[in-house]
Amino acid sequence: MSEKPLHLESRCIHGGQHPDPTTGAVMPPIYTSSTFIQESPGVHKGFEYSRSHNVTRFALERCLANIESSGLSEKDDRTHGGFAFASGLAASATCFELLDAGQTILCMDDVYGGTNRLLQRVRQRSQGLKVVFVDMSDTATLERVASECKPKMIWTETPTNPTLKVVDIDAVARVGRACGAITVVDNTFASPILQRPLERNIDIVMHSTTKYLGGHSDVVGGCLVTSRREIAEKLRFMQNAIGSVMGPFDAYLTLRGIKTLAIRMARHCASAQQIAGWLSTHPAVDRVIYPGLPTHPQHALAARQMRIEGVPSFGGMVTIHLHGGVAESRRFLERVKLFALAESLGGVESLIEHPAIMTHASVPIAERKALGILDSLVRLSIGIENPQDLIADLKQGLD
Ligand SMILES: Cc1ncc(COP(=O)(O)O)c(C=O)c1O
Repeated sequence: MSEKPLHLESRCIHGGQHPDPTTGAVMPPIYTSSTFIQESPGVHKGFEYSRSHNVTRFALERCLANIESSGLSEKDDRTHGGFAFASGLAASATCFELLDAGQTILCMDDVYGGTNRLLQRVRQRSQGLKVVFVDMSDTATLERVASECKPKMIWTETPTNPTLKVVDIDAVARVGRACGAITVVDNTFASPILQRPLERNIDIVMHSTTKYLGGHSDVVGGCLVTSRREIAEKLRFMQNAIGSVMGPFDAYLTLRGIKTLAIRMARHCASAQQIAGWLSTHPAVDRVIYPGLPTHPQHALAARQMRIEGVPSFGGMVTIHLHGGVAESRRFLERVKLFALAESLGGVESLIEHPAIMTHASVPIAERKALGILDSLVRLSIGIENPQDLIADLKQGLD
């Protein structure tokens, strides 16, 4: 008898999990051992050395594979196509190793500043990668540039950090197939609760698990999940060969965070929608960027590809342009009290930051300007506090 697949909220709690076979512990123990006994050289219980095999990390990796719908079984790959790393950037760096020296990567123009820095200032030099940036929110441009530069990998992020552009994931998958490129979606801003790239024929999903998956701003990590067996095989080799794995304590915390991911995301989305609407009416705010507002240029696309149980839901990130420049932004950011002025996002607590000075300072200034990351731009990560308290805090900061 085939079992009915569980809903996503249930998969966050049970996906890829089973009680500990030795003790029956319901939650996976934290296995700190770096090494495992062998009966005779090469004869062991499937665990040799913790960089290659760790029970706690494996539990998280199976869960990630399940909630991103890798569709791979234990026979295809030991952790069903899920791989956890020491940070989001460690995950991205390992993913870039799927490319050979001199190959071309086509990258969304507005990506996390650290991804931009890793490509432009490290991998262009050390791996000879040719990096072509393009605004993939314009599908016609994506198609044209891909057919010109013949990339081996297409890397996108949607919604983007920080200008919340939305990219058509179906189009990226289609273009990738047409030119034989591996397609990757950084799904950090949406989380698997809202957006399901592997179900839309994307090859690899990447996350900074530091953000919504961990959810409590207390652990740094990253992951890759693939639905393709041959890619899983390469990533398994790379993860071990490069070695930037997630440690067992961090894996445990991240797995614990994921258990409440579905209910947290619903609340993040509802509060962000309400706060984005309120900010749009405030005279100190020049413009609000939020995919859930009808004024967002890709609102219809976002409503199609970002959904909770079929209901359009637009995430917890809101970006605003204030009237004025750096002085006005600085004054506002110094005055808010409940919002913490800090980098990062996706935690239960609300955060606020200035991308041009903080998260995206590593993006060359001319590129920042071209992307609209101006001195007037402020990024908000809406937490799960009562939204009225958050609005009161923003009001006293802006008035
Ligand atoms: C969209 C996105 N991708 C990747 C990263 C990098 O992740 P980490 O900071 O965990 O290395 C970040 C970090 O802010 C991010 O926002």
